[in-house]
Amino acid sequence: MGKSIEKIESEALKELKAALDLERIEFLSTKYLGRKGEVTFFLRNISKLPQEKRADAGKKANTVKKTLESAFTDAIRKFEEAQSKKGDAIDVSLPGRPVPRGTLHPITQISSQICDIFTKLGFDIAEGPEVETDYYNFEALNFPKDHPARDMQDTFFVSDNIVLRTHTSPLQVRVMEKTSPPVRIIAPGKVFRCDSDLTHTPMFHQVEGLMVDEGVSFGDLKGILTTFIHQMFDDEISLRFRPSFFPFTEPSAEVDILCVICRGKGCRVCSKTGWLEILGSGMVHPAVFENVKYDTSKYTGFAFGMGVERIAMLKYGIDDLRIFFNNDVRFLRQF
Ligand code: PHE
Repeated sequence: MGKSIEKIESEALKELKAALDLERIEFLSTKYLGRKGEVTFFLRNISKLPQEKRADAGKKANTVKKTLESAFTDAIRKFEEAQSKKGDAIDVSLPGRPVPRGTLHPITQISSQICDIFTKLGFDIAEGPEVETDYYNFEALNFPKDHPARDMQDTFFVSDNIVLRTHTSPLQVRVMEKTSPPVRIIAPGKVFRCDSDLTHTPMFHQVEGLMVDEGVSFGDLKGILTTFIHQMFDDEISLRFRPSFFPFTEPSAEVDILCVICRGKGCRVCSKTGWLEILGSGMVHPAVFENVKYDTSKYTGFAFGMGVERIAMLKYGIDDLRIFFNNDVRFLRQF
């Protein structure tokens, strides 16, 4: 009939003593006490023993079964206890787990670079609401009601008189209402237009600039913006001022830089023109000064506004604007 029950017992206990992990203990429990285990097998075959030995063997086998059962339960309990104690102990010699650090979003980075350059030129930072009244977004900036220039702004209306600001220019008015000249401010922030494709997202960022004082001229505008562009891109980059129109500036100019991709030869990015538009600017329109009660015979000023995404795209050579807002860390991690 094979092994004696004593032998099975001693082997089982020996193997259990040598077991190093929970898995092994469970394996042994099955090996001896499972449905096809050695003890179970022994018990099942007792009927094959000679009559006079059966009672004794049965008794012994049942005792062994009980002994082993409690030995296994004990072992498992001890093992689990040891395991949880280990968890409590602090191994001070282990190196700490590094906390992954985030980075600023590339748009935030570029926006603060822009602001840094202007603060060094003596500009202060100003901020204003993203939900604006029609007055600040349009009216005070010399966009009369029904003026066709309003159509170009793809406005999101909250109600008849409340809009999501379509540009940061309302800050010009808000700041001038509160301060008397001289004024030198820079205003970064989110703006909204109902437009969405490769180069437009319904929300984007602008930085507005305004400088007002006695005797501020178009020459100052050119000087400040040229200094800015040279610092933002590089000292060698060519730029040009191109006549344009904004209701709140007169004269108005758009500033182009030589295409950073083809260096003026003409390519897909600059639509074969060799130039890339990066900002709008102009001398503050007297009508705007009148709205904030500035003396137009005494003060002049200039204003400008630029798109942060656009500058970021040019600086990093990114050709799809939407990637800034997908929140894909594989992209964001690179900055
Ligand atoms: N606000 C204008 C725009 O969003 C840009 C601009 C700002 C133009 C200041 C002139 C002066 O297009």
